[in-house]
Amino acid sequence: MVKEYIIESGNPKNKYLKVSIPGAKNSILPILAATMLLPSKVKLFNVPKINDINNMIKIIISLGGTVVWNDDFLEVDCTAIIGQKISFSLTEKVRSSILLVGPLTVIFGKSIIGLPGGCRLGLRPIDIHVNGLRSFGIKTSKENNKLVSQSTGLKPASYNLKFPSVGATEHLLITSLLIKGESILNNIALEPEVLDLINFLKLAGADILRSQRRLKIEGGNKLSINQYRVIPDRIVAASWITAAVITRTNLQLLDFPKKLLCDFLSVLKLIGVDIEYSENDILISCPDKLSPFNITTGPFPEFSTDIQPFMAIIACTIKGISRISELVYENRFQYAEELKKLGADIQINEKTLYINGDRRLVGCTVIGKDIRGTAALGLASLISDGETKLVDVGFISRAYEDFDKLLESFGAKVKSVI
Ligand code: UD1
Repeated sequence: MVKEYIIESGNPKNKYLKVSIPGAKNSILPILAATMLLPSKVKLFNVPKINDINNMIKIIISLGGTVVWNDDFLEVDCTAIIGQKISFSLTEKVRSSILLVGPLTVIFGKSIIGLPGGCRLGLRPIDIHVNGLRSFGIKTSKENNKLVSQSTGLKPASYNLKFPSVGATEHLLITSLLIKGESILNNIALEPEVLDLINFLKLAGADILRSQRRLKIEGGNKLSINQYRVIPDRIVAASWITAAVITRTNLQLLDFPKKLLCDFLSVLKLIGVDIEYSENDILISCPDKLSPFNITTGPFPEFSTDIQPFMAIIACTIKGISRISELVYENRFQYAEELKKLGADIQINEKTLYINGDRRLVGCTVIGKDIRGTAALGLASLISDGETKLVDVGFISRAYEDFDKLLESFGAKVKSVI
């Protein structure tokens, strides 16, 4: 596994780039969990070879499922699932493992599943998952580093999520489909990946009616789907766009639905980035001078918490003070301290960053602490003079297939240290 990138910035050879974006990690993970509901194989197209997906696949195989990589699709067969236990050594590597608690407990009556891992972005409680499951008649308790769950009279339910959690929406939706009768979920998340899961399930025959943040679900129907193509990854797309904006390179995103990035694109437009749409492509070009901005993260369609670290790098190229407020996670500014090491003029005030972009960055050693923060630091190396050593890049392979190629497309020379 690659441990470090040594990145030397340079000028892009090509000032007009075109890119196709792979499938969304955050769509594929819940769809893989939902394959537990299918009585036959399914082919998933547009699946990138990244570690979060590899780790979810390992979990499915550990439960008795079969997963085969083909050239352009992943074939998943969960018809012979027999396991109801997942070890902590598997679940600590991928947070979406929690999505299997409900389905396995409904199918087998009980389950013992390691606590979910993932990036340390804050407290990341699982109370909405656990309380939601309880309303369906699934009792869950924490024992050491495991979740022990038991079904105690399964029943459809009406449940209001106290916050539109992405994972809890997906988890409770998948679980409700296994329980006969009408369930209601209120205050659901509307992130594009949640809508993609709903689309997948509806194409499989699930009876799901969505009205704004409310889902009416008729559980207990038999589902079946042969193949599905997931939506492209908006966070990977935002990484490419950020690289284009900070290096003032023209970029064409091929076949990319603009609604997936409405939050990011509308802010870019406001600060002066030129964005055009041609058929299904998005064309980005950027003047030298951009305006500072104010953003606050929140549930979709508010500004994405996953994209805010990239806005900090964009802010480093804009004269004046930009403000970023993070309201989704408690601990999402870890990258900012590292960015300061590169010379960025940043003030951190609890939930808000103030970035004065009128400073030249200079390469040095910076440490990755979570997926998107590490990617943001990699992007910052593109505008840092000389050499940047990015340490702990293991996070990047959890979500990006070829992050080094991305940097190289924008003129960097990247040496991977194993
Ligand atoms: C998903 C995304 C992640 C993104 C996040 C928010 C995946 C695999 N990951 O993570 O990239 O940053 O959505 O858009 O899709 N919360 C609770 N109790 C719960 C669950 C969540 O309080 O039971 C809180 C969390 O601590 C956090 C907020 O809700 O403050 C959002 O979390 P959630 O939407 O659940 O994020 P994930 O599904 O883990």
